[in-house]
Amino acid sequence: MFEELPLLPPDSILGLAAECRADPNPDKVDLTIGIYMDESGNCPVFNAVRLAQRQLVDEEQTKSYIPPQGDPQFIEGLVELVVGSDALGVRSGNVGAVQAPGGCGAVRLGAEVLKASGTKGKVWVSDPTWPVHVPLITSSGLELGQYRYYDPATHGVDFVAMTEDLAAAGAGDIVLLHGCCHNPSGADLTPEQWREIAGMAASQGFTPMVDLAYQGFGEGLDTDVYGLRCLIEQVPEVVVAASLSKNMGLYRERTGMAIFVGPNSRTAEATVSQAKAAARRIYSMPPAHGALLAGRVLGDPVLRADWEAELTAMCVRINGLRLEFQKRLENATGRDFGFIAKEKGMFSFLGLSEEQAKQVRSEHGLYMLNSSRINIASLNAGNMDRVVAAVTSVL
Ligand code: LMR
Repeated sequence: MFEELPLLPPDSILGLAAECRADPNPDKVDLTIGIYMDESGNCPVFNAVRLAQRQLVDEEQTKSYIPPQGDPQFIEGLVELVVGSDALGVRSGNVGAVQAPGGCGAVRLGAEVLKASGTKGKVWVSDPTWPVHVPLITSSGLELGQYRYYDPATHGVDFVAMTEDLAAAGAGDIVLLHGCCHNPSGADLTPEQWREIAGMAASQGFTPMVDLAYQGFGEGLDTDVYGLRCLIEQVPEVVVAASLSKNMGLYRERTGMAIFVGPNSRTAEATVSQAKAAARRIYSMPPAHGALLAGRVLGDPVLRADWEAELTAMCVRINGLRLEFQKRLENATGRDFGFIAKEKGMFSFLGLSEEQAKQVRSEHGLYMLNSSRINIASLNAGNMDRVVAAVTSVL
């Protein structure tokens, strides 16, 4: 049978990261994958996570399964962080949450539950979106639609086009939105635009599904979920795929959650039962380690304050890198790169063609995605000049 298997091309993100790792060029710069890197080029373990891990190693008595729904302390802490106590106060009994293996697992569980509802509608994704959304959603059997989102000419959200396209979304349809720090563009909706989308969802009847992988990396933990909370206030049903890969640095621990905000407690129970059944047939049990760490960090006031301070420092540093990079690119090229400082989170499209992206890779060892998406959080004082010189050389 294996003789018949076609060889697949490498993943568009992971493949380039692997290519960069294998490149012997000592001056190479990896701006491919969305991982937070500090000034010395390391992806750090948060101090609070390190402390929680020490406690866990000392106290853990078993490696038996955790409950299929997930670790209760983790569920309580993350639902509160994402949904917020105000919304929880009104609708706390209406929220169902199931731990998932990372944000990917959460998107897949969300899609499985939506498919189980019997909807014949489509899942509308932004053009462009994170490429892995496509297989995660279609593998549940749901159909895909697309709405216009990013305008390369303005380097911003084309909100007129977005709302024109979403005017066709109705009851039974699902609209996938990036909660903050849009991947791959970095271009986010304004608070007014979020309110308009929430109004459209409420009046047209579509269900928002929010991918929340970067909470805390845009402006702050609460500000970054402004849009999500607008939706929860105005729309009867909202699905959230939350991840702690980036904002708690738990990448390899696969720590995420599918959250279902519904109209009543019966729907909350039904969504949880469906998500648990979907998990059981795909991978059976949730991984424990990351969730046990995150539950401790979120639930312990000292660890939580430490984590929030470190996350805030990362967010401030990324925003500083954006300003510095903009300034240096403008000085070197004489062109306007003001969009870089306006965007949020880790990503930005530099606006290079695919040929130019490949040229900076082969000639300068500068690795960005073919779409010219770069990870701003991989820039540092040691590599920024090389990046600016490489980009300038192809413009
Ligand atoms: C990215 O977009 O680079 C990250 O979300 C990592 C991944 O899995 O693609």
